[in-house]
Amino acid sequence: ERRPEHQGYVVAIDQGTTSTRCILFDHSGRLVAVAQREHRQHYPRPGWVEHDAAQIWRTVARLVPQAMAQVEATPADVVAIGITNQRETVVAWDRRTGDPVGPAVVWQDTRTADLVEELSAAAGGADRFTDVCGLPLTTYFSGPRLAWMLRADAGLRRRAEAGEVLFGTIDSWLVWNLTGGPDGGRHVTDVTNASRTMLMDLATLDYSEQMLEVFGVPRRALPQIVPSSQVYGRARTVVPGAVIGAALGDQQAALFGQTCFSPGDAKCTYGTGSFLLMNTGAEITRSSHGLLTTVAHQVAGEPPVYALEGSIAVTGALVQWLRDNLGLISTAPEVETLARTVPDNGGCYFVPAFSGLFAPHWRAEARGLLIGLTGYVTKGHIARAALESTAWQTREVVEAMDADAGLRLRSLRVDGGMTSNNLLMQTVADVLDAPVVRPMVSETVSLGAAYSAGLAVGFWPDREALRRRWHRAGQWTPAMEPQVRERGWQDWQEAVRRTFGWIR
Ligand code: G3P
Repeated sequence: ERRPEHQGYVVAIDQGTTSTRCILFDHSGRLVAVAQREHRQHYPRPGWVEHDAAQIWRTVARLVPQAMAQVEATPADVVAIGITNQRETVVAWDRRTGDPVGPAVVWQDTRTADLVEELSAAAGGADRFTDVCGLPLTTYFSGPRLAWMLRADAGLRRRAEAGEVLFGTIDSWLVWNLTGGPDGGRHVTDVTNASRTMLMDLATLDYSEQMLEVFGVPRRALPQIVPSSQVYGRARTVVPGAVIGAALGDQQAALFGQTCFSPGDAKCTYGTGSFLLMNTGAEITRSSHGLLTTVAHQVAGEPPVYALEGSIAVTGALVQWLRDNLGLISTAPEVETLARTVPDNGGCYFVPAFSGLFAPHWRAEARGLLIGLTGYVTKGHIARAALESTAWQTREVVEAMDADAGLRLRSLRVDGGMTSNNLLMQTVADVLDAPVVRPMVSETVSLGAAYSAGLAVGFWPDREALRRRWHRAGQWTPAMEPQVRERGWQDWQEAVRRTFGWIR
């Protein structure tokens, strides 16, 4: 039977670094149900970070029906499914059994440092492939990770070449499982996720023969690259019969959910790490200040839209570290209460270079540092320094963005879990000397996946209709004395310099 036009829900699956969320949105873009669950982080050695892909898939399969049950939705009520995911994390699995053949290697993992250094030794250095893929050689991206896995295990290479083992990022893993797994599952990846592998040519949107050769990755084991918003097929399990209408990397999804559809529109998402993306339209804009060139989205039948990105590896993860590794707080929100016990950082700076430093420095060998300690410093100052590190790192990528774009960011749209921290958002506005604005629906990652999927099936007519749904919920206005801001900025930059070259 036919569903009345504006009824039904779009199901967004957001498979993130530390947790997975399933959110249902109705036609007005209202969030009507949420189910969430964390998964285990494995740290087998310093610098290594792994996930269990099978656990991730089980979590997804459990959360979707849980969220649907909250509004008594049946599969027939699901207009489309949109998938969004932690990017650059790689999974290898057996085509016949559907079992992962090893742990998923996570985007924060730095095991490829030696390989990256070896490849960077050639002429052109770490930037030798930016013309092709828009990305510098670093441990962050998926290509080096696949190369590492293939070098470490000759059996894996043989099986990948024989078509017995499939590779993918988390989007591929979820789409393959949802569309039937070993029983005819589709092996695809969306263009935004593919743009994070270093294997894709940004101009052709296909794998680059040169990059496949550099990393020694057999094309046969890789998913087919497809647009981010299009009908991928129907789910055979979890929500049988429902149309999968989109997949895109979580940061690109947030850009879409913030309706940053015009060139120059930018947002920053504050999660485990933080990611500032600016829409640059149909242009492939190359950065000369340490930013990445990436695909923002592609609607089926249309040319791609590109973006510049400033990626910060550790922001919310630092708050979790204060909680889990130091026991300084017992819940993440307590960091704000603790930081508010003091009026300033007491001279303390915390550079959380736990996975080296990402944009704009790209220093794999940097390690974390807490500097400026005296007998005066309390837990409160350390909490404050930790929050400030997120703000200063935002300023670093904003400065790079301004320099690349040749203009000054007028205001910053923000979203993500950390935006509920008022002290942090005020500090971001203070150190940027620009207003910071938060939308009504703060779940922009899921919203962007839902919008993309809904567009693919005609649930929403076009991007203009989505843009009209964006409403401001909060704004923070800069209130810091210019000399204080300048002094802090100088001190922060000095602290950052001191983290360089730690691993020798
Ligand atoms: O590039 C990594 C990013 O996609 C991870 O985002 O929110 O899962 O930490 P998140």
